[in-house]
Amino acid sequence: MDDRTRVAVIYYSATGTTYQMAQAAVESAEKAGAEVRLRKVRELAPMEAIQSNEGWHAHHLETQDVPEADLGDLEWAEAVVFGTPTRYGVMTAQLKQFIDGSGPLWARGGLVNKVFAGFCSTATAHGGQEATLLSLFNVFYHWGGIVVTPGYTEPSQFVAGNPYGASHTSNNGEIPPDDTALSATALTARRAVLVATALRRGMAAT
Ligand SMILES: Cc1cc2nc3c(=O)[nH]c(=O)nc-3n(C[C@H](O)[C@H](O)[C@H](O)COP(=O)(O)O)c2cc1C
Repeated sequence: MDDRTRVAVIYYSATGTTYQMAQAAVESAEKAGAEVRLRKVRELAPMEAIQSNEGWHAHHLETQDVPEADLGDLEWAEAVVFGTPTRYGVMTAQLKQFIDGSGPLWARGGLVNKVFAGFCSTATAHGGQEATLLSLFNVFYHWGGIVVTPGYTEPSQFVAGNPYGASHTSNNGEIPPDDTALSATALTARRAVLVATALRRGMAAT
């Protein structure tokens, strides 16, 4: 039997910044020994809106092969790392729509005791980064989840400066995530794997 901890990295990205962070989360979780699914949430914007923005359209085409998240991914995962750009200080409508579909799973207790963590990107410095992560965490509390953050658990976090989760300032998708943001994303994912693995073993022992 595969004993690897099951991790889903579920994200939305219009212009690709958050997608690059998602890839760092996947790589880190795999390195930490997890079995990982990378999933994008369904796009809700009309094609005319996507095509009106060169970066958005290019990213939309580039990631056509990334599978879309469904409730089965949430059910399967022991840890879920969510990524989203900010929209006025909260998660995107696309990610929220996916989350809003979780009702049946939530109602049968299917989200209880899972580990959750997050990363995000904004156009401007700060720009709602912590608020966006906290908007995600509100959901996890309702789900009975266990929220895992990077905190200041490694010296790199004193440079990254966001103990709530990983975040990056992209200037509207023009500045790709740097080493600081990618390391913070990797740390966030690694800690989610660590805690989910310990939790599973602890639960099995009790
Ligand atoms: C409707 C809308 C609202 C946004 N609100 C904010 C905001 O409140 N603060 C901010 O810094 N950036 C804001 N942004 C910018 C994006 O969050 C930012 O460019 C992000 O890095 C894009 O990530 P992506 O490349 O993964 O799509 C907003 C963008 C849109 C389209």
